Amino acid sequence: MSGEITAAFHMADVRNKRITRRRAVAVGELLAGPQAYPLIVQRRLPKGDALLMAEVAGLQGAKMASALMPLCHPLPLELVRIHCEPVPERHAIRVYCECASEARTGVEMEALAGVNAALLTLYDLSKPVEPALEISAVRLLFKEGGKSGLWLHPQGISANERKRFAPKLPQGLPGTRCAVVTLSDRASQGQYSDQSGPCLAQGLQSLGGELVSQQVLADGIEPLAGHLHELAAQGVGLCLCTGGTGLGPRDLAPEALQSLGGRRVEGLAQMLRTLSAQHTPLAWLSRAEVVQFEQMLVIALPGSPRAAAQCLDILVPVLGHAVAMIDGQGHP
Ligand code: MTE
Repeated sequence: MSGEITAAFHMADVRNKRITRRRAVAVGELLAGPQAYPLIVQRRLPKGDALLMAEVAGLQGAKMASALMPLCHPLPLELVRIHCEPVPERHAIRVYCECASEARTGVEMEALAGVNAALLTLYDLSKPVEPALEISAVRLLFKEGGKSGLWLHPQGISANERKRFAPKLPQGLPGTRCAVVTLSDRASQGQYSDQSGPCLAQGLQSLGGELVSQQVLADGIEPLAGHLHELAAQGVGLCLCTGGTGLGPRDLAPEALQSLGGRRVEGLAQMLRTLSAQHTPLAWLSRAEVVQFEQMLVIALPGSPRAAAQCLDILVPVLGHAVAMIDGQGHP
């Protein structure tokens, strides 16, 4: 026996996750009953103004999430907002907690801790007039940011909640003709099966893009440059290439893009490297390139499936806008 003791739990290691803008909104209700409800709403409870106190408690609760839940990371909260809403037909107080942060992990536990602290405080101030109180329907309404983007609770979100919190879906690529090109000598010779191309193709389609071409080409300037000319002639608006951005002698994807003579979009290439470097310092070795050629945006991404997927996640917030601008639609 080695004598080593391993814990049956662990705090998630988020060091290699990318920092993104996160937001979460949680909701829950105190079913106060006909005795306590009017006193809460009229702010006439014997202990004091429960609605005001609940707001203060909610703020504190959200900030204390990592102290209360052992596996939660302490996150720098940039926004905590509590909103209490009377629901007369159920004699209930509905509490919302909205939290936001730029972080490597989500803020849903903070939002849930905030709602719970606010609800317990409403409970505490109401119990002298009504012992039969109930805390009910505490749930995460939605969260956004991170790899999976926007997640909405399957029960949905009301029109009022949508108006108040405006959960953001990325603009997407509806109707955009898209193409994917994998650059690899070995994949083009059938020595291994391409995973990055299908991953990008699926990602584009899930954003609403219309996939009109998916190709595996040998490394080198001519095959890619010739293919990109054809795609532009076919009215493709967005072409994602994967592979051939590194420092190997056959890594020539950036040169192929530059040979088109279009406009370089240096900011996007720089963004890909900078944000990818949060996943791995090797990201600085990618010569990822972005070029606007005629009406087509061409983006050369690194070749590993993981890198390609990470880069697409990075691009999602700006792709729709970029394609619309090239199409002459200007700013929304
Ligand atoms: N970018 C992201 N987001 N994730 C990664 O894992 N890998 C890097 C880099 N960019 C990587 C990344 C590595 S290991 C290399 S060598 C370069 O991309 C170039 O890859 P390529 O030659 O396949 O284009």
